[in-house]
Amino acid sequence: MDLKKDFNEKIFAELYIKKHKKILRKLGHYYAKKLKNVGFSEGRIIDVGCGFGEMCMVLAEEIPGCEVVGVDLSKPLLDYARNSIHEGTIKKKVKFEMGNVEKMSFEDDSFDAVFNVNMVHCVSNPISMLNEIERILKPDGHLFIKDLRYSYLKVFEKEINNAFNIEQAKKMIGDSELREGAFSCSLLWWNFEV
Ligand SMILES: C[S@@+](CC[C@H](N)C(=O)[O-])C[C@H]1O[C@@H](n2cnc3c(N)ncnc32)[C@H](O)[C@@H]1O
Repeated sequence: MDLKKDFNEKIFAELYIKKHKKILRKLGHYYAKKLKNVGFSEGRIIDVGCGFGEMCMVLAEEIPGCEVVGVDLSKPLLDYARNSIHEGTIKKKVKFEMGNVEKMSFEDDSFDAVFNVNMVHCVSNPISMLNEIERILKPDGHLFIKDLRYSYLKVFEKEINNAFNIEQAKKMIGDSELREGAFSCSLLWWNFEV
């Protein structure tokens, strides 16, 4: 399965949006609440691998003083994301860019919060992406990485076949240049947060 190629196919992308819109919206609210709970009310946020942009939209709606950038390589998903930016204040706060998350064009230390969801098992070189995340995150920035974990649940969800197990995920975080953070997991996901 070539995920990079699949996400550039219109029908695959449309099905992906249909299947994941609700959960990504829910995750957006969950993360906005987490940021608000630590007093985050303004700053630059990036969603590294934003897909169809749902989380970026929710974060921009919920955090008053933020500016949100979403980066991805899929044209159909980015088209959808751009079309979902409506007029008004949100338009000034959200931007979607086509780019490779393994080598991003942003300056060092340029984001106050970085999100990376469902990406580690999708990119060709996850460690390059994690190192890039470390590079663009400010020293006192917030980081939220979440990915599917490999488990018996693959019987119900095919995508889990491509995921890393907990040991592999922990090793990858340890082998990368990411700063110290907290690793946690649930039945379906693993998380790394700073
Ligand atoms: C499973 S989706 C996750 C997207 C979004 N975070 C979500 O949860 O819906 C994987 C995404 O990775 C993107 N992708 C894969 N490799 C990439 C790369 N090297 N640079 C940028 N995006 C990439 C695909 O286009 C796709 O949107």
